[in-house]
Amino acid sequence: MTLPLPTGRLAERPFDPPAELRERGPLSRMSYPDGHEGWLVTSHTLVREVLADPRFSVRPELRHLPIPGALGSNQPPPPGMFSGMDAPEHTRYRRLLTGQFTVRRMRLLTERIQGITAEHLDAMEQVGPTADLVTALAQPIPAQVICELLGVPYAARARFQGHALDLFRLDATPEEMATAYAAVHGFMAELVQDKRANPTDDLLSGLTSSDLTDEELVNIGFTLLGAGLDTTANMLALGTFALLSHPGQLALLRKDPGIVDRAVEELLRYLSIIPFTVRTALEDLRLDGEQIKAGETVTVSVPAANRDAAHFTDPDTLNLLRSTAGHVAFGHGVHQCLGQQLARVELQVALPALVARFPTLRLAVPAEDIAMRTDTLIYGVHSLPVTWEV
Ligand code: HEM
Repeated sequence: MTLPLPTGRLAERPFDPPAELRERGPLSRMSYPDGHEGWLVTSHTLVREVLADPRFSVRPELRHLPIPGALGSNQPPPPGMFSGMDAPEHTRYRRLLTGQFTVRRMRLLTERIQGITAEHLDAMEQVGPTADLVTALAQPIPAQVICELLGVPYAARARFQGHALDLFRLDATPEEMATAYAAVHGFMAELVQDKRANPTDDLLSGLTSSDLTDEELVNIGFTLLGAGLDTTANMLALGTFALLSHPGQLALLRKDPGIVDRAVEELLRYLSIIPFTVRTALEDLRLDGEQIKAGETVTVSVPAANRDAAHFTDPDTLNLLRSTAGHVAFGHGVHQCLGQQLARVELQVALPALVARFPTLRLAVPAEDIAMRTDTLIYGVHSLPVTWEV
C-alpha cells in the first residue's frame, strides 16, 4: 500500500521533521490526496538531483499536491508569475529580476533593515516586559522590507501591510481570502501605474524600464509578496523559539555576534520551514534505479534533505558553529530562492539585535504550550509569547 506524505510531528520535538520521513528511504512511492500515485524524495543527493533536472517541471497545471487542501492554484501561471514557469519563460524573468538585486540596492536595504529592526525593538521595549514576538517583530520586519523593495509610499504602507498580512491569515474564510487577494491586486495595479508615472529608486520602478507589461509587473509584485513575507516572518519567529530552547547555542551568539552568518545558515537548515516542494516529470526517466513516468509528481522533502546524516554530521543537533554547506533551505537549481540574500540579511540583523536588546529574553509560557503551524505550507509558530526583566 502506498502511503501519503508524513506530516505528524512530535509535540515534544517541535523543531524536528516528521520521523516517518526517514523510514521511507531516499525514493519511495507516495499517494496524493487526489488519488495520484507519485513519489517522495528524502535524501540530500536525490533532492538536489531532482531540483537541478530540467526534465522535472515546476508548472502548477501539471502537478499533484501532497497535502489535502494545500493552497495554490493548479492553473497555468499568469504572465509574470515566474515561480510557476519552466525555462525559457522562467529564465527571462529571473534574469530581469536578478539584475535588480544590485550590490547598491542590497546595501541600502541592509541599512533600512537595521533601522526598521531598531524601531520595532524600541516599540517592544516600550510596551513590555512581555510581547508576542510574531506580531511585534517577526511579521512587521519582512512586511516593511517588501514595502522598501517595491517602493510602496509611506502614506500607503499601513493599508498595504494590512491587506498583505490578511493574505496569510490562517483562519480566513475563502471569501475573506478572495477579498484580501482583490485588495492586494488592486493596490499593486495602482502601484505599478504610479511607478510608471513617477519612477523612484526601488525594484518595481527599476523593472518599469524593461519591456514588461503592467500585468507582468503586478504578478511579479505578487510573487515577491507571496514568497517573501510569511517565509521570513516564520523563520524569524521559529528561529527565536529555537534559540530560546537551546540556551547553550543562544549564549554562543550573545557572546560572539560575529558568528551570526553561520548561525543563520544553521537555523535555516535545522528548521527547514518549507516542508516540501513538488516537481512533475515531463518525460519517462530513471532516478536512483527507479522508473519515473511522464506526468508523475515527485514531492521533494526539504527538511528530510537538510537532516540527512549522509551529508550532515549529527543532523538533529542545532550547532550554530557547524558547516552547513549545501543546505537546501532555499531550494536548489534554477528556482532557488530569489530573495535569499535579502532573507539572510533580515535574519542576520534582527536575531542578534533582539538578543542584544533583551539579555534576559525568555519564553513567557512553557515551550509545550506554543502552538505550532503544522497545517500550512510554511512551518512555524502561531504566536510566540516572550518576556524579559526590566
Ligand atoms: C527565510 C526566508 C525564505 C525561505 C526559507 C525561502 C525559501 C524558498 C524556497 C525553498 C524556494 C524554492 C521553491 C521551489 O523550488 O519550488 C524559494 C523560491 C523563491 N523565493 Fe524564497 N524563501 C525565503 C524568503 C524569500 C524572500 C524574502 C523573497 C523575496 C523578497 C523570496 C522570493 C522567492 C521567489 C520569487 C522564489 C521563486 C524563485 C523562482 O521560481 O525562480 N523568498 N524560496
